[in-house]
Order: sequence, then C-alpha cells, then structure tokens
Amino acid sequence: MRTENAVAPKTIYLKDYTPAPYLAKQINLSFNLLPGKTIVTSEVKYAKNPAGVSNDLVLDGEEQNILSVTLNGQRFDSYSVADGQMTLVNPGDEFTLTIISEIDPAANTALEGLYQSQGNYCTQCEAEGFRRITYYQDRPDVLSIFTVRVEADAKAYPVLLSNGNLQDSGSLPDGRHYTVWHDPFPKPCYLFALVAGDLVRVADTFTTMSGRKVDLHIYVRAGDEKQCDHAMESLKKSMKWDEEVYGREYQLDLFNIVAVSDFNMGAMENTSLNIFNTALVLAHQETATDSDFMSVEGVIGHEYFHNWTGNRVTCRDWFQLSLKEGFTVFRDQEFSADLNSRAVQRIDDVNGLRRLQFPEDGSPLAHSVQPDQFIEISNFYTKTIYEKGSELIRMQHTLLGGETFRKATDLYFDRYDGHAVTCDDFVLCMADASGRDLSQFFRWYKQAGTPTVQVSSQYDAAQQSYTLTFKQSQPDTPEQTSKQPLHIPVAVGLLDDSGKEILPTRVLEVTAREQTFTFADLPGRPVPSILRGFSAPVKLETDLSDDDLRLLQVHDTDGFNKWEAGQTLALRTIQRVMEKPETDISQFVADVGTLVEQGLAVQGDKALLARALSLPLLGVIAQHQAVVDPAAIDEARTAILKQIKSTHKDALAALYDANRNTGEFSITPEAMGRRALQHAVLDILTVTNGTGCAARSKAHYDAADNMTDRVTALACLSDSSQPQRAEVFADFYARFKNYPLVVDKWFSLQAIANREQIFDDLAMLRNHADFNIKNPNRVRSLYSAFAINNPVKFHDPSGNGYAFLRDVIIELNTINPQIAARMVTPLREWKRYTPALQAHMKAALEAILATPNLSGDVFEIVSKSLN
Ligand code: PHE
Ligand code: ZN
Repeated sequence: MRTENAVAPKTIYLKDYTPAPYLAKQINLSFNLLPGKTIVTSEVKYAKNPAGVSNDLVLDGEEQNILSVTLNGQRFDSYSVADGQMTLVNPGDEFTLTIISEIDPAANTALEGLYQSQGNYCTQCEAEGFRRITYYQDRPDVLSIFTVRVEADAKAYPVLLSNGNLQDSGSLPDGRHYTVWHDPFPKPCYLFALVAGDLVRVADTFTTMSGRKVDLHIYVRAGDEKQCDHAMESLKKSMKWDEEVYGREYQLDLFNIVAVSDFNMGAMENTSLNIFNTALVLAHQETATDSDFMSVEGVIGHEYFHNWTGNRVTCRDWFQLSLKEGFTVFRDQEFSADLNSRAVQRIDDVNGLRRLQFPEDGSPLAHSVQPDQFIEISNFYTKTIYEKGSELIRMQHTLLGGETFRKATDLYFDRYDGHAVTCDDFVLCMADASGRDLSQFFRWYKQAGTPTVQVSSQYDAAQQSYTLTFKQSQPDTPEQTSKQPLHIPVAVGLLDDSGKEILPTRVLEVTAREQTFTFADLPGRPVPSILRGFSAPVKLETDLSDDDLRLLQVHDTDGFNKWEAGQTLALRTIQRVMEKPETDISQFVADVGTLVEQGLAVQGDKALLARALSLPLLGVIAQHQAVVDPAAIDEARTAILKQIKSTHKDALAALYDANRNTGEFSITPEAMGRRALQHAVLDILTVTNGTGCAARSKAHYDAADNMTDRVTALACLSDSSQPQRAEVFADFYARFKNYPLVVDKWFSLQAIANREQIFDDLAMLRNHADFNIKNPNRVRSLYSAFAINNPVKFHDPSGNGYAFLRDVIIELNTINPQIAARMVTPLREWKRYTPALQAHMKAALEAILATPNLSGDVFEIVSKSLN
C-alpha cells in the first residue's frame, strides 16, 4: 500500500494546540540501506500522556510502504491509514509498537526525509520530514530517547552516522557493515539525523570549560578536506563563545558536521550531527569570498548555538519556531559582532532586514513572529521568524541590559532544559528575572507589520530644554487591523552643534501612541542621534535637517547611526532626483568627495568607509516609494553615481590604488575591509560601463589572488558589453568548472547583469550543461540571483522576467515543492509596483495557481499573495 502525499491543503491553528495523546519513552530505529530501497524498522515504547485529551494514537507517515505492524510482539492489523496518518484506536496505557516500512531515498527529490545526494545518504527532518521515514507522532513536543542502527554496504558507504555516541559497530556477511548510535538526551524527531556515505573526515578536539574533551569531526567528499579549516576554527570559537557569553557547555563527547551538496536550506542543527549545505562549510581563499567566510562562521555558530537554543530547550509546536530561530539568529549575530566589527555587523544585518524582511512585512504574506495559523510549516522559515525574531530578542536584551538578560537566559535554560516550550515561556523568564512587566512587549510577537515611528523635536531656548515627541503607528496586515501600541526601546544620544556628544546613549521606552521626553539644561539646540544601533525594527521618520544629518555622519559616536545618517542623506538625494532629475545634487556629491579625501588622508575603518561609499540598494530605496518603479529608481541612483564618478574620478582612483593588495592573503577584519573598500570604489569607477571601466575590472581580475577580488571584478563587468566581459567570464569558468560552489557564482554573476541581452543570457544559462534543476544551490544561483538581485531586469516592462521565474516554479512544483514555494518570494509584493508591472506579476501568479497538482507549499504562498 502506497500512501500518497496529495493531501488537500489544510490550515492549522495555534489555538487548536492540544498535548500529544501518547508519550514516546524510547525509540529504536533500524535502517537497512539496500540498492533501490531502504527498510526502516521502528520500535517505539509508548505510554499514555496524562496531559493528553484523546485515547487514539495518531501517527504521521508519508511516501512509504508499510510492510508490517506489530503491537507488543503480536501482528496487528486494526489500524487505519488515511490522509497521511495511521490511527490506532485506544491501543492501551503502555505498549510497544513496531512498524516496518519501505522507502525509496533515490526517488526523493523533495530532499525531505531520507534522500541521496551525490550517491550518499542523508536526512532532513525539520520540520515534518521524519514522517517520510517512519510512522510517528511527528511533532516537536514528543521527546524520545533514540537508539539507531544503520546497516549498509561497507565499500560504498564506509561512514555510517547518527546522533549521539557510537555504541557498537562491526562487519556483516556479504560486504556489509553496521553501526549503532545512542543519544541519551530525549529529543524531538525533527532533530534525528542519519548519514551513510563515502566521505573523508577532518578531525580536531575541543576541551570544554569543565575539562571534558570533545571530538570534532567534519565529513566532506574526498578532495574537499583542504577547505574545512575555517569551519573547524569557527566551530571551536562557537563552543568557546557559548561558554563565555551564555555559560553553556556541550554535553556529548562527539560533535559531527557533514557537508552535502543537495540541501534545501543552509544547514540543520540535528543533535551532534549537524548537516550542512556545502556552501556553508567549504571555504578557501581560492574559491570562497570574504562574505562566504563570514557566512560559514555565522552559520557554523548558528547551528552550534542551537544545541542549547532549540535542542536542549525545544519548541512546543511550530508556531513557536522563532523561539529557537529568533534567539539563535540573535546569538549568531552577536557572535559575529564579537569576533569581527560590531558596527559593520549591525549595518549588514539591518541592511538585510530592510531589504528582505520589511518587504515581507508589507506584503500579503505578512505574519507575526508567533503566527496564529499556517498551511505548510516549511513556508514559515521566513525573514520574519528569523530576522525579525532576532530583533525581538535584541530589544529584550536592550530593555533588560546585558547582565539581567544573562540572568534571564540562565533562568530559561534552568527552567526548561529537556522541555518543549513557547515564546510566551521565554518572555516570562525575561520578566521574572528582571521584575519587569513585559506583557505589552509581547505584542511584538503577535502583531505583524513594520511599525513607523515619527519623531519631532523642539528646543526651548528660554527653558534651555529640548523635547522629543514620538508617535508610533502600526500598519494593517492580513487579518490584523486596529493594532495596539508597542513597547519600543529607542536608544538616543545628543550632540552639540560642534559635534561633541553631550548626552551619551540612553534608552527611551516608548509605550504610548504619542509620548514626549524632555532633556533639561541644554544651553543650545542639540542634534539628536535617534535609534542608535537600530534599537528597534521600525521605520523611523525624523525632522532632522540635511545639516543635522551631515553633522551626525561625521561626528556620531554610534557607528551604526553615523552610517545611517549618510544613507538617509543619500535616500533624500535619490528621492529628489526621482522627483526632479535636474535637481542640484552638488552638495551631496561634494560630501562623498570629503569621505573619499578622508579615506586617503587617514587610516580609518575601511569596512565602514566601504559601506559609507555605497548608495542604498534598490530594494531599500523601494521601501520608501509609494509605487515602486525599479527602472526609475535605478535611473536616479545611477545618475548620482555617474556624477560622483565624474566629479571625483582622480581621488577615487587614488583611493583604489592606495588600497591595493600587498602582502599575504588574510581574512582579518582589516584585510576584508580593504577588499570591501576597493570593491566599493571600483563599483563607482566602473558605473559607466565604457572601455576604461572594462579595462579596470579586467586588471582587477588579473591581479587577483583570491575569490573575493575575482568576484568583485566579475560583478563590475557583469553589466558591461565590452569584450573583456566575455574573456573574464570564460577564464573564470575554465579555472573553476570543477568547483560546483564557484560555478554557482558564475551563474549568479551573469544572472544579475543589467543589460540588453539578459534574457538571451538567461536562456543560455538555463540550457547550460551545468544547470541542474534538482540541485537547490544551482537553481538559486540562477533564478534567485536574477529575481532578487537583478530588480531592474526582473521587473522588465515586457514581463519576461516574471515569465522566466513562473516557468521554473511550475517545473519545481512536482520536483521540490519547498524550493518552488520559496521561489515565489519576489512575486509576493506585486501590489506595490506600477499598474503595468502589477498586471504582469498577477498574471504570473495566476498561471502558477492554475497548475494541475499544485503542492500545498506553492498553493499557500500563491493564493495568499493573490488575496
Ligand atoms: N533549522 C535550520 C536552521 O535554522 C534551518 C532548516 C529548516 C534547515 C528546515 C532545514 C529544514 O538552522
Ligand atoms: Zn536555525
């Protein structure tokens, strides 16, 4: 009997949560990996859950043939199977249920459950993949102790891994072998993992704060072991950081990381057996960019930190996803900030939030950090759950202060270790440890949409007092209107008119719709630095003048706001040019020149200067337009860049030269900053795409001894049609064609080209021998790169960009529904564009919706987008 996966899309509600009817005391899983099929035996000791409200045991299961069911050792047939569930009516208070089933990992292109990647076996169970392995209560509040036996051909699959400690292993007749793994800590099934393959191991150790030695193993394909050093260093730094900053120690004797090339997401925190997309493990200067190095460090940290925030303390249900993800993103962001530059990290994180989460919050798919309903949980691994979720934790950190926050997290781990809990439980620990009432703060978890905070200021010369008046408002979002005011921490400092800081950062707590704060004893009108460090995820509107912003841009002590002041000036300038192309922008252009001159005169923070010299990206500018016209934004932005180039060409060239590569390659923040600065300058110098630009970019490529510089050169050549473009892209391909992750870059760097021939290029890339629709990284390297990072051509007036994306979504719908659904992202905000673009986008969505056998994943996103 094969149970089909075609279950009608059904909405699940948080309010319907009830505890699981049965506890799973222990689970013994046995995998027999055979050619063409895998036999799974699961033996589970169940006991009635005293908190349960039903007597029926309902097990989730999909895509498997049931071979036999045994209850307490007796063959058992009185179960029913329907709609992906097996039901046993009142099976008793305590019993052992054994189910043997057959699955087909080789046919699994959805990459959920047990599947094959380049011949090796691996699993992905979060969120609901375990049900594709065996029938089980596939929900995170069912915790069990797992013992796992894996048996396979010894030659083809010398490495057999699962969670926990290796208990037993040995060889078997017919060239087969087996291992047995035991994880003594109860866990939900979404953290189960298995790997069987032909892999090489890179080994190291870490000694924990209590002196225990932990073996650290990274498994990769032969040949890739030279690219694991950075991941291993990052892992050791993560383990140390969690001990120092959160007092959290690792509990087992072994920690494994396995890299696979076919993976839907970035990585997965399975207990002691993290499975990673190769893109987030492998890093070497020849093949990885600085931003890859940073991502590897951040994601290795992220998955490791889940050991406590997610695994030891887990989620009660999937509405609580941000409990683990928001908190863990906050932890990885802080880890990266501590290891590198705090201001740069914050700038990049906020840029990402504005470019990707704000649009989500303003779209028909807007949802709260603790949602009330979903159809497909895999659609809820969103920027809102992750990145906005992290901002919510950051605000609690800001409100409590570092020391009290740490007391609160100690309490949280103490109270809930081994438990499956809710976001409410987390916030309650924050409240209990601080003695503060955070009930209003909790609205952040329930109200979707990005709030706007408007600030007006008034100086009273007679009283020598200064007041700031805050007004907050919340936009309506799907199914949510008339929202209530939020508890918003606004970090503020004051500068005098010479730029001296006269009031260091203090956190104002805005709780009312409208609220005024007064500062006394100020002999002159100060310049306020508001929302320092981006202390709350809001859209800030102030009455600051251009001169105020210019002062902050030079003098603010807060690195983030210093950058932010420049960005606001840039935004204002872009908006003025969009309204009136002949606007005089010489003041703004002169200010950029001052930054360049300063960069030449003093050895400041180059990474910060690089960011200061970069105009806001189109996606960020679009957030400030009532009706988005990407071509018009691009035109204004490019016109400004051209004027900057023509006015400061010599100084820019000098700054480029002054930052040439000298000495050994390194990935220190300073070295990365230097490369980033050269990139920012080269971006401006090549904006006209003429012969000189192409020659410059090619020279940059020829001088490169690392991937960052090569990618910089390719990015600056991408829009060009000069002969050097083809030469350099061909050379790049020839050099790196055996490195799939680099070939991904080759695809992406062409897909982002803003030039006439783009649709021919896209067709060529789609038909390229290296394109593979079943490999998510390759699909993303072409389609996501185009749809997200090439906004001008994606929104081409012909509608060709939308059609290109539409076709791959329809194709992926049956191959990999999760990836198909994710690809819809750039179409979701169709209502924000010009009427002509809207019509094309809507037509693309409607065509997808009309596809026969549409998966629940795609159905949910497309139908909600059209609402
Ligand atoms: N839980 C993973 C992470 O954040 C992400 C993930 C989700 C991976 C679902 C695979 C499937 O770290
Ligand atoms: Zn995570």
